[in-house]
Amino acid sequence: MAIPQSFIQQLLQQCDIEDVIASYVTLRSEGSRKKALCPFHSEKTPSFIVYPNTQSFYCFGCGAGGDVITFIRRIENLDYVEAVKLLAQRAGMTVPEDAESDRAGKLKVRILEINREAARFFHQTLKTPDGQPGLRYLKGERKLSDHTIVKYGLGYARDSWDALYRHLRGKGYTVEELEAAKVISRGKNGHYYDFFRNRVIYPVIDLRGNVIAFGGRVLDDSKPKYLNTPDTPVFKKSRNLFSLNFAKNAVASKRLILAEGYMDVIAIHAAGFENVVATLGTALTSDQARLMKNYADEVIICYDSDGPGQAATHRAINLLSEVGLTAKTIRMEGAKDPDEFIKKFGAKRFELLLNGAGNAVEFELRKIREQVDLNDTNGKIEYIRRAVPLIADIQSRLEREVYAGIVSRETGVDAKSFLSQVDAAIRRKARKQEDGEWRDIYQAKDVRTDRVNPDRAKFLRASQAEATLIALAVRDPSVLTIIQSRLKPEDFPTAFNRRVYERVLWVTEQFGDCPPALLNEPFSEPEVDRISQILAAHAEDRMSDQLLNDCIAVLEEQRRSLRGKDTRTMSLEELEARRKQRQKQE
Ligand code: UTP
Ligand code: MN
Repeated sequence: MAIPQSFIQQLLQQCDIEDVIASYVTLRSEGSRKKALCPFHSEKTPSFIVYPNTQSFYCFGCGAGGDVITFIRRIENLDYVEAVKLLAQRAGMTVPEDAESDRAGKLKVRILEINREAARFFHQTLKTPDGQPGLRYLKGERKLSDHTIVKYGLGYARDSWDALYRHLRGKGYTVEELEAAKVISRGKNGHYYDFFRNRVIYPVIDLRGNVIAFGGRVLDDSKPKYLNTPDTPVFKKSRNLFSLNFAKNAVASKRLILAEGYMDVIAIHAAGFENVVATLGTALTSDQARLMKNYADEVIICYDSDGPGQAATHRAINLLSEVGLTAKTIRMEGAKDPDEFIKKFGAKRFELLLNGAGNAVEFELRKIREQVDLNDTNGKIEYIRRAVPLIADIQSRLEREVYAGIVSRETGVDAKSFLSQVDAAIRRKARKQEDGEWRDIYQAKDVRTDRVNPDRAKFLRASQAEATLIALAVRDPSVLTIIQSRLKPEDFPTAFNRRVYERVLWVTEQFGDCPPALLNEPFSEPEVDRISQILAAHAEDRMSDQLLNDCIAVLEEQRRSLRGKDTRTMSLEELEARRKQRQKQE
């Protein structure tokens, strides 16, 4: 283990979870607990609860949960050791140095050095004879200026199996480090070769100016068109945006432009709109939407005008609206993407497009209109049916009335009766959301696909008892003595809950009680979510001998039935009784 548990225990005494979380979100008291809008998903009514008693949190909306350390890990996007260091700093404590965490930190530094050196190498190549195919492509074919090539640090990976490999080895980087940076790959024959070959290179730069990854494009029509650096210790593609390092300085307007690809971003930027970003070879994620929300109120989506681009626009609108961004779209005629549009019609016309950007509802209404026949009664009905949920999503009543007017003119249906359908949809939605938020507490989501505890489906009743016992024992260590006198860890029938119980035993033995932060330490993120769910679901249980007894009895009964007698030696009556009991459990 990296950091001594005794240090963690001291740290926890200094870091009250309420104080720490309060510096990120606004907490409101509700009895002995605190409530807030969840910082890990988008919601309008608070379902994020902090439990000062157990020093833990749980969100009934998205299922995220944990202790003060897991909270910092998630919100700051840090690993365990980094999170502990940050908390220690806050509390004015020093983490005892430790070899393991030191190594992870040093590797990250080395990877960033490797990336910087590789970016420099790719860029310099453009100035050598070997780099001419790349330079010809960027300048000749894509019409990029020297200024843009330098500003974005574009480069070329020459047509060689190991040019970069040899260059970086010569600079003293080890094969392991180069592999961790994903700039080389290992072939079946055990030889190493460069990840990017014969491709123009677009470096991805983070907000601190580090080179964290690369995109590489072929010079012709071969496939795959783009290669992107896979995730590494310094890069998570779902959490970064291409060109945000430039865009963040150009958002005085609180407006970002979202394009589909590297080339569109560069073309839009070069045309004078520096507030532009793109995802990195994947569809937009909610992490990226939240990242954009830090800089903007409004996002203009400029995806390709083809089918996939429009489908992606539709998805992006939803993700952006969910985090509270106003999504707008442009309608490009006569060009497949912004790069081509700007080349064909110029920056001025593109600016007109941006300024005339329609809002998301207009985009969606137009899309439906293109798919139905408004001259036909069925077409009109279909149009209204699909327009209702769209309009119901709009927050402002006034705006809803404006669109009701439009739909009414287009279909001839009375605006008032359309609006009453919209109101009904709004009520349905509110009810559904509330139901959803509470369903998870009492009732396991879908038992069959429980990846954290796959045994649960087999032991529904017993796993409920296990969970209750775990929660009671975490809250009150004296309960453990009673449980231990009657049950062994092996009597916990589901493997996951057994592991949790064993960890509770171990921590309590070592430290006298079981703070969730120590309990959670060996578990993965989804496992910690589950543990938090267990603690949260039973936070209000009144501890009583009755409850404790009942739970222990369920597990004792389970033990008997599992050990049972060998079915071959059972009497018919015994077999029947056993079958009945099984049925009862299922
Ligand atoms: P596009 O095919 O629209 O590429 O894919 P583009 O950026 O417009 O490139 P040009 O203009 O043809 O040179 C959009 C984005 O999808 C990702 C890349 O991030 C690309 O910029 N992509 C595309 C991949 O990751 N791999 C691929 O094979 C293709
Ligand atoms: Mn494109």
